Amino acid sequence: MPGNIANSTSQIIERHQLISDQMDKERLTLILKRLDQALKHHIPGDIVEFGCYLGTTSLFIARLLEASTTIRRFHVYDSFEGLPDKTIEDASVAGSDFKAGELKASKRQLIRNFKHAHLKSPLIHKAWFNELKNKDLPNQIAFAFVDSDFYHSIYNSLEMIWPRLSSGGAVIIDDYNRSSLPGATRAVNDFFTASNVRIQHQSNLAIITKP
Ligand SMILES: C[S@@+](CC[C@H](N)C(=O)[O-])C[C@H]1O[C@@H](n2cnc3c(N)ncnc32)[C@H](O)[C@@H]1O
Repeated sequence: MPGNIANSTSQIIERHQLISDQMDKERLTLILKRLDQALKHHIPGDIVEFGCYLGTTSLFIARLLEASTTIRRFHVYDSFEGLPDKTIEDASVAGSDFKAGELKASKRQLIRNFKHAHLKSPLIHKAWFNELKNKDLPNQIAFAFVDSDFYHSIYNSLEMIWPRLSSGGAVIIDDYNRSSLPGATRAVNDFFTASNVRIQHQSNLAIITKP
């Protein structure tokens, strides 16, 4: 029923609970607002999330897409094996949190969470990011959310996303400037070092708009 569809990002965020501690409402607001902007400006392409885990953020992205007047494909990518091994770039003085195999959810759990929320399941890609092939990726991306914690996971994601991102579209990377996950900041800074783009930094998110 159209009357029941929450039509603003804040309504969507107010109406629903987060299903894990992997996201908070402050970051979610920034993510959904930027996605909403891409939709309202008719930026062409699919929506992608690299590192979906149980779907905490994916559920909200799907809710916004459902409330939108345009139809977009929504792809989520995850190993469903949890985090890979850390590399030297991820070593942190803040401690040794985040180990290989942590944050493991199954594809079945993700599907169940979508069913439980009465939402259409996204296109689910189970793979390590460095094993993804061209055929697994959309040709054009309007909006991307990257939440994969470690240097190579994020760098690999950006290598796939950036050339496919439409002009005016955005990529948002979680954990930017978070001391326990230094690989996230390093990956973003290294990837964009030679490009003339502005890295907007808000609430541990890096937000980059494609010129
Ligand atoms: C912080 S969780 C994602 C949280 C999720 N975005 C949410 O809102 O609940 C990180 C996820 O990234 C996945 N991941 C990290 N590195 C990966 C890689 N190289 N390939 C595939 N999945 C990866 C992990 O399996 C884990 O599910």
